Amino acid sequence: MEKMELKLRNFGLRNGINEIIGITFGKWTNTAPLGIIVEDEEGINAKVRLYSNHTRDNIKEKKELWVNVIHDPVIFAICSFDDLDESYFESLNPPIIRGSLSWCRMKAEIKGAYAEVELIDGGVLRKEAKAVNRGFNAIVEALVYGTRLMEYKNMALKEKVDYYLKLAEKCGGEREKRAVEIIKERISELVD
Ligand SMILES: Cc1cc2nc3c(=O)[nH]c(=O)nc-3n(C[C@H](O)[C@H](O)[C@H](O)COP(=O)(O)O)c2cc1C
Repeated sequence: MEKMELKLRNFGLRNGINEIIGITFGKWTNTAPLGIIVEDEEGINAKVRLYSNHTRDNIKEKKELWVNVIHDPVIFAICSFDDLDESYFESLNPPIIRGSLSWCRMKAEIKGAYAEVELIDGGVLRKEAKAVNRGFNAIVEALVYGTRLMEYKNMALKEKVDYYLKLAEKCGGEREKRAVEIIKERISELVD
């Protein structure tokens, strides 16, 4: 694994909001999509807004967040509703989900609505040429609204989810189509 100078952009975290899989340890290994907010990609500090969830609880307890940068829509879909078991990982220490491009270890501290995070270690596993796929982007959008729908039971959000799922079906490949199935299954539990 290539060792890089310790700064956020070397691990794929750029200025703006970076959608990644956050891994935390508690009673179990918790995996959830999170948006890491970066204001200085040349530095090591960032933050993430945390709602009331297991990620927040684990960070409060362990003061640590692991980040995986990954482009697999199925992983985003599963982690939005469940946690990945060990079979999804190519390494458990550091925790690396199969297919991840990079990983980071972050020191993390809850400060009000946010966790302030500081990069302390990381590695780059793969550098892949990859075009933008609207289907993948649509899966991310469907999941943002889908997780809010599950949390707040606001059925108006379902229209947004349906819109993005249609787009993902049109523009995505097999992994996006599998992600669509996972999301539809979860949403139908709520609607039925
Ligand atoms: C793309 C994406 C980004 C998300 N970003 C955040 C975030 O920054 N903070 C947060 O608390 N939840 C975020 N969520 C929602 C959580 O991933 C979701 O509520 C998850 O179920 C929380 O899991 P946990 O209870 O296992 O921590 C995001 C969801 C998606 C799909």
